[in-house]
Amino acid sequence: MPAIDDLKNRTTPVFSADDGASVDLGGRRIAGKGTQCERLVAAYGFTHLSAGDLLRAEQNRAGSQYGELIKDYIKNGLIVPMEVTIVLLENAMRDAMSAAAANKDVTGTNDNTAAVNAPATGNTSLKGKFLIDGFPRKFDQAVKFEEAVCPAKFVLFYDCPEEEMERRLLERGKTSGREDDNAESIRKRFRTFIETSMPVVEYFEKQDRVVRIRADVPPDDVFRATQAELVKRLGDNF
Ligand code: C5P
Ligand code: MG
Repeated sequence: MPAIDDLKNRTTPVFSADDGASVDLGGRRIAGKGTQCERLVAAYGFTHLSAGDLLRAEQNRAGSQYGELIKDYIKNGLIVPMEVTIVLLENAMRDAMSAAAANKDVTGTNDNTAAVNAPATGNTSLKGKFLIDGFPRKFDQAVKFEEAVCPAKFVLFYDCPEEEMERRLLERGKTSGREDDNAESIRKRFRTFIETSMPVVEYFEKQDRVVRIRADVPPDDVFRATQAELVKRLGDNF
């Protein structure tokens, strides 16, 4: 893990929307956002990062100082303290940019490992498009991420009635192996969403940075609606 202290003290973003990445933030859980993210990656080459996946990977990483804490929060449907999630995201963004830069480097002299482990300098010249799934879910992580890592262009919010989400989650729980795909955790996650994440949606909405998409319709329709909104926001050539 990179230094959390560095993040706490930082007040300017390491990546900018221009030279680093345009960041789009994923919407409400299990409103089919995983499927939509896959399709967006295939169609437009976004780099997809999932906050939940990064947290689960860190939870399972041998020797992680945060493993137990993450496990506890996830099981209870609570939002993990923001520094942990933001640092994981920043690292993953840096890794993706370094990997892309190394691929482009025809001389083949780039040492990817060194770039990944380098301290935050923000001087990457690679243009990237990041689709960040399941983030932000709490006001403090939204503000800190934009302040210290990268400003977001907008938030994609997939809106789906609770009954439909519960049905999909319980179905997924039969095979997902996730400790939070059970009735009790699902109830807690819904409560967290209403109390903690909805204010974030409202905050971005006030700034006209929310793209709200109905997700209780077939996936093809959801994708078409997403594409139409992306074109409106980013133009044809994003
Ligand atoms: O998005 P996903 O359903 O994979 O998230 C699973 C859990 O990970 C959440 O219920 C929460 O405990 C944690 N999480 C978080 N902060 C985020 C995203 C996920 O704490 N931004
Ligand atoms: Mg997910």
